[in-house]
Amino acid sequence: MNKILTASLEWVDTRFPLTKMWNEHLAHYYAPKNFNFWYYFGSLALMMLVLQILTGIFLAVNYKPDAELAFGTVEYIMRDVDYGWLIRYMHSTGASFFFIVVYLHMFRALMYGSYRKPRELLWIIGMFIYLALMAESFLGYLLPWGQMSYWGAQVIISLFGAIPVIGEDLAVWIRGDYVIADATLNRFFVYHVVLVPLILLALAAAHILALHEVGSNNPDGIEIKKNKDPKTGIPKDGIPFHPYYTVKDIVGVAVFLIIFSWVIFYAPEMDGYFLEGNNFFPADPMKTPEHIAPLWYFTPFYAILRAVPDKLMGVIAMGASIGVLFFLPWLDRSPVKSIRYKGWIFKLALFLFVISFFGLCYLGMQAPTKIGTLLSQLFSVIYFAFFLLMPWYSKIDQTKPVPERVT
Ligand code: HEM
Repeated sequence: MNKILTASLEWVDTRFPLTKMWNEHLAHYYAPKNFNFWYYFGSLALMMLVLQILTGIFLAVNYKPDAELAFGTVEYIMRDVDYGWLIRYMHSTGASFFFIVVYLHMFRALMYGSYRKPRELLWIIGMFIYLALMAESFLGYLLPWGQMSYWGAQVIISLFGAIPVIGEDLAVWIRGDYVIADATLNRFFVYHVVLVPLILLALAAAHILALHEVGSNNPDGIEIKKNKDPKTGIPKDGIPFHPYYTVKDIVGVAVFLIIFSWVIFYAPEMDGYFLEGNNFFPADPMKTPEHIAPLWYFTPFYAILRAVPDKLMGVIAMGASIGVLFFLPWLDRSPVKSIRYKGWIFKLALFLFVISFFGLCYLGMQAPTKIGTLLSQLFSVIYFAFFLLMPWYSKIDQTKPVPERVT
C-alpha cells in the first residue's frame, strides 16, 4: 500500500508541485514559536470563509432571487427543507461570527504592529478583504427580502445620492431601478453568490502568499529571520508550521465550534443583533420601519455617518474612517512593533480607541437622540485622533528595549 502511495505521489510531483507546495507553506514554513491566543483568528477566518461558501451553496439550492418569491423561499428553507433552519442559521450567525473573528484578527495586528514593514502589503490586502467582506454581507442582507433588507439597502444606496453631480445617476445604476426592486435583488444575488466570493477567495490566497513571503510577525514583534542558524539557515526562533501549528489551530477550531454551535442552537438571532426581528416581515415599499439600523458590524461607521450633520460630509467621514486604516503602516513611527515594548501613551491611545469603537457600535444601533449624537461626535473625534495623531505620539512614547530572541 505504502509503495503504491509513494509511487502515486511521485507521479503527481513530476507533473504538479504538490510536495513542493506542502513543504513551502506547511512542513518547512517556519513560524515564530511564541504564537499566543491571538494567532488563532487567521485560521478561524479561513474556516469561516469556507463555511460561509458551503452553507451558502446549500441555501442557494432552495432560494429564489425574485421579489415575489424570495421571502417565501427563505421561510420554506426554515420550515420545510430538512435541516434548512440549521443551514440558514449557520450562514446568518456565521456572518456575525466571521466579523467577530476578523475584528479580533485585525486587533491582534494593531497590538503587535503586524502592519509594519515588511508587512504593509499583507495589511493592505487584509484591508481589501475587509472591504469585500462588508460588501458581501451588505449584498447578502437584501436577499431574504424582509423589511430590514429592503430599508437597510434603501438607506445605504441612497448615500450614493449625496455625491455631487453623479450621485443620483449612480444610485439608479446600482439599483437598476428608481427604487429597490426585483432588478436590484437579482443583481445583488449574483454579486453575493459569484462575484464577491471569487474576489474574497483570490484575496485570501494573495493574503497567505504575502504572509509567507515575509514571514509571520509575533507577540514580541521580533523578526525571526534576522537570527538564523548558520548551518541550517532555519530561524532559531522558528518551528515548522506543520505539525506544530496545524495541531494547535485544531484546538482553536474545536473551542470556536463549541461556542459557535451553542449560539446557533440556543441564540441564533442573538436577540436581534445577528438577525433583526423586523426582517421576519416581508419587504413593504409602502411602510418605512420606525427605526432603521444596519447590523452591529457596520454600526461604528454608521454612527460616524450620523455624527456629522451634513449628509455629504457624513458620507466622507464614514469613508475616511475605513480608509484611514489603509495608511496605518505609515502612521506608526514607533521604533518598536509590539505593544509589549511600547510605552503608556500607545496603550492609553489603544484603550481609548477600543472604547470609542464599542461606543460607536452601540450608538449606531440606537435611534438618534441629542445626547447620543453628542457622544457619537466625541467618540468619532477619538477614533480619528487615534490614527491622525499617531505619527506624533508613537514617536514621543517611551519604549522599552526589545530582546534579541522571542520570549
Ligand atoms: C477572510 C479574511 C481573512 C483571512 C482568511 C485571513 C487569514 C490569515 C491567516 C491564515 C494569517 C496567518 C495566521 C495568523 O496570523 O493569524 C493571517 C495573518 C495576517 N492577517 Fe489576515 N486574514 C483575513 C483578514 C484580514 C484582515 C481584514 C486584515 C487586516 C486588515 C488582516 C491582516 C493580517 C496581518 C497583518 C497578518 C500577519 C499577522 C502577524 O504575522 O502577526 N487579515 N491572515
